[in-house]
Amino acid sequence: MFESLQKLQIDPIFALMQQYERDENPQKVNVGIGIYRDIKGKPFVFDCIKKAIGCVRNNNFEYESMGGNQQFLAHTAKLFLGEDFDSEKLSLQQACGGTHACRLFADLYLRNNILGSVKNKPKILLSTPSWGNHFGIFKDFEVVKFSHLDENKAFNFSEYLAQVQAHPNSVLLLHGGRTHNPTGENFTLSQLEILAEKCNENQVFVFVDFAYLGLGKSILEDRKYLQILYKKCVQMAFGVSFSKNASLYKQRLGALFIKTNGVNEKEILESNQQNLIRESLSNLPIYPAEVMNIVFENFYEDWVSELGLVCADIALRRKRLLGPLPARFSYLKNGQGMFGLLGLSQAQVLELREVYSIYMMADSRINFAGVREQDFDYLVHNIKKVL
Ligand SMILES: Cc1ncc(COP(=O)(O)O)c(C=O)c1O
Repeated sequence: MFESLQKLQIDPIFALMQQYERDENPQKVNVGIGIYRDIKGKPFVFDCIKKAIGCVRNNNFEYESMGGNQQFLAHTAKLFLGEDFDSEKLSLQQACGGTHACRLFADLYLRNNILGSVKNKPKILLSTPSWGNHFGIFKDFEVVKFSHLDENKAFNFSEYLAQVQAHPNSVLLLHGGRTHNPTGENFTLSQLEILAEKCNENQVFVFVDFAYLGLGKSILEDRKYLQILYKKCVQMAFGVSFSKNASLYKQRLGALFIKTNGVNEKEILESNQQNLIRESLSNLPIYPAEVMNIVFENFYEDWVSELGLVCADIALRRKRLLGPLPARFSYLKNGQGMFGLLGLSQAQVLELREVYSIYMMADSRINFAGVREQDFDYLVHNIKKVL
């Protein structure tokens, strides 16, 4: 009955994790998966989240509306947009993490052809490398790939402008803030202003996948990247995640927001999103939204200061690892956030994995927030060895 099906590969990040778990080398290092761990390699949960969990009132597990928890959505919209949040013009939808926010946007777009004038598959402009799952989530679009970095491994702004001009009426996917995954190389604020104008001129719909708010520099600094696009772009939406910046990974908390021209359009969009939810999950996990509401209302300052410590720690780990590496890696010092691409060949990545039990993504992306105290010297020593 299922003869036509083939066994598929599991996602390379999770496959790598399984391989790491099975490795018996006591010196093994996991810089593959994008998780913030403490310097001893222990799973990290924000204190404010622990405190909020202690305050959740577990006396009502009945269904919520399909849109999700409205209090959480209003708090989150304000978190990302500040004073620019206009509840009459922003369509709100809770999602199961950032992945699901992207998925909902893709489904909404594919089913309803938001731009209306596109007869063929809608086009999405997706710079590479990107978070691997983007290519799966948007596989039913016509994916136009272009390079996020230039030949000197610097951010390739001119290529973004060229692609937007060459592909009017498409969707442009951007990573939010200062934490591009996997390169760590980002737009400047003034580049975003220019890009927004070009997108408007070419009717390009901007979708921002914002998975690391507060993990670049700070909430206020990171969100400026979104605020510019939100103010300037005529057509834009953004998906958010609380996996990394609130350590809620497997609790699955996120949201999708779409800019509309007023209450009517907002209601139409929300009803479409709610129908997508009804047909798939039917109801959303509200527990993590309640936890986050308590953080917003009672422990917000604690969260901000803890995020500050996490950011400083990531920056320090970047510096500690990159400092003793040869000059060919110095471009990585411009990067921000958890990730960087070492620019190693597949053979070098494989040698590091098979000979030294150092696990990084096949494209040589490493997660600086996965490097433990005991790993720095070991990593530097062995990366140098395979060059
Ligand atoms: C760029 C990007 N978007 C979205 C996500 C998805 O996050 P979540 O676990 O909330 O689905 C990730 C996670 O690694 C990511 O790196």
